[in-house]
Amino acid sequence: MIDPADAAKRLAAARALELVHSGMRLGLGTGSTAAHFVALLGERVAQGLKIVGVPTSEQTRAQAERLNIPLSTLDEIPELDLTIDGADEFDPSLRLIKGGGAALLREKIVAAASLRMVVVTDRSKQVATLGRYPLPVEVDRFGLESTRRHVLRVADETGCSGAVSVRLDEKGHVLVTDGGHPILDCAFGSIPDPEALARGLNAIPGVVEHGLFIGLAKAIIVADADGVEVIGDLA
Ligand code: A5P
Repeated sequence: MIDPADAAKRLAAARALELVHSGMRLGLGTGSTAAHFVALLGERVAQGLKIVGVPTSEQTRAQAERLNIPLSTLDEIPELDLTIDGADEFDPSLRLIKGGGAALLREKIVAAASLRMVVVTDRSKQVATLGRYPLPVEVDRFGLESTRRHVLRVADETGCSGAVSVRLDEKGHVLVTDGGHPILDCAFGSIPDPEALARGLNAIPGVVEHGLFIGLAKAIIVADADGVEVIGDLA
């Protein structure tokens, strides 16, 4: 049986594929929704579409390589036309929480290098206020506990509260990102002022990057059983 959420993710990905034209330089996101996009893109490449992609994770790189999608790096192509990526949460102002798949650092670098970032998602990620999904914060291993306490302080100063814990992998070991860092998951429940929290987190020396994506997404393609809605501007 087809999972309705997965069908919605594929529908959103298919709509995003309509934005792709030959000659484009594409950022390729990470996660199950982005994987649908990469799979559909692979079909088009096999039919002759000429694009080059920059993957946001080793997982996406492996998928794209299996599909013979031409890949490059931001060192070779520092500016991209379009990035298609998923999200763990989005609000009415197109602010996102990302990093559930631990790829937030490369995802943010690639999004910031893109003229347009378009998010593909199913309806379950839509919230009025960010924070239901635990906010991932990628940190340096050095001084981890000290950095965790700074994160708690900044949270308190910006109206957030909740557990801040080191993410573990399936084997119970500290998870390490593609960039070689641990992640703190911040179970705030609600983030009343995402901009203030983002500023505070950016000012902590041990924070490498956080999963608040503010001012990056130009549009969100959100799908459910009723079809596709576009929030924002796809142009
Ligand atoms: C990866 O680090 C994340 O930012 C993903 O984009 C996010 O978790 C969405 O994943 P799904 O499409 O699997 O829900």
